[in-house]
Amino acid sequence: MSLLEIRDLEVAFNTSDGVVRAVRGLSFDVDRGQTLAIVGESGSGKSVATQTITGLTRGAKVTGRATFDGVDLLQADRQTLQKIRGARIGMIFQDPLSSLHPYYRVGWQIVEMLRAHDKSISKSAARDRAAYLLSQVGIPHAKERIDDYPHQFSGGMRQRVMIAMAMALEPDLLIADEPTTALDVTVQAQVLTVMRRLQEEMGTAIILITHDLGVVAEMSDQIVVMYAGHAMEKAGRRELFYGYHNPYTEGLLASLPVHGNAGRLQPIAGTPPSTIDPPARCAFAPRCPYVFDRCWQEDPPLRTVYDDPAHSSACWLPTDRAGRQAARAKLAEARAVAEEPV
Ligand SMILES: Nc1ncnc2c1ncn2[C@@H]1O[C@H](COP(=O)(O)OP(=O)(O)O)[C@@H](O)[C@H]1O
Ligand code: SF4
Ligand SMILES: [Mg+2]
Repeated sequence: MSLLEIRDLEVAFNTSDGVVRAVRGLSFDVDRGQTLAIVGESGSGKSVATQTITGLTRGAKVTGRATFDGVDLLQADRQTLQKIRGARIGMIFQDPLSSLHPYYRVGWQIVEMLRAHDKSISKSAARDRAAYLLSQVGIPHAKERIDDYPHQFSGGMRQRVMIAMAMALEPDLLIADEPTTALDVTVQAQVLTVMRRLQEEMGTAIILITHDLGVVAEMSDQIVVMYAGHAMEKAGRRELFYGYHNPYTEGLLASLPVHGNAGRLQPIAGTPPSTIDPPARCAFAPRCPYVFDRCWQEDPPLRTVYDDPAHSSACWLPTDRAGRQAARAKLAEARAVAEEPV
């Protein structure tokens, strides 16, 4: 059994404009010690899906299952959820100040957190542990910096402090929601390396949420590509990067420096659709270069592709490799004709 099993998760919000269906029938598994990346443009439902799992979405209508080590988190009472959060599921966000209190010294905050979950640990032992954790995430002079306030750290260092705090109780699962989005590229890589080192040391599973496929290239074992509340494609990392099926994944990859034409990055044209009263068609149809009649008539379900049970795609293109390649060749030909000078 996987550590976390999400099944048919639906999350909807009542708004004055209508019912926003932020997550629509999402299923995935996270295995112990593994990293699952959830990738998709802003508004695709990544944060809502993971916040719902940890009981942090308020006022939403939620159905489905989220089984964590045998406990359905969607049915669990407040107390059970509170115990699991922090101790067994750690969380980090884009903005460290959402988890770090600005008015308290960082060491004190880690000490309080350790003592809240383990009454038997002495203050000085907790302090030693906090200093050790800060050194583990690469804070220089951790023993002294333990008495600094959050604002005395740079953005990247603050992100490391938040990782130290989220990992302090050696959780089974870390949910990292756009943890490096606000950081520059070099610092991003350092912060991800720190996360991975702690993961290896503690055997933690990670759900890494990002809008940037580049970030997950190094880090992930499994990838879920989300669009308009749906999973568009699910696959292992290699399979996704080198043998993707879904045109939306293709679009995300084309916007990466290493995969797109060098120097000619191509962001996907158009904007993601609203999920208020989504029509019964492929959500990506208005932006998809491959679109054909059937795409406008029926919403494609996730289907196994390339005979790989671990690889699925929600798309009406042929599910065999030859058929998919033929579609790509046809599109390339049509594009070449369109670009020919008259
Ligand atoms: N509390 C809320 N009430 C209404 N709509 C919401 C609420 N929270 C999120 N949404 C909507 O749900 C969709 C998914 O949001 P989110 O999960 O934050 O996207 P992502 O994290 O992928 O950028 C968006 O359309 C967003 O506007
Ligand atoms: S179903 Fe059609 S519109 Fe949707 S991604 Fe596939 S080809 Fe494109
Ligand atoms: Mg988000």
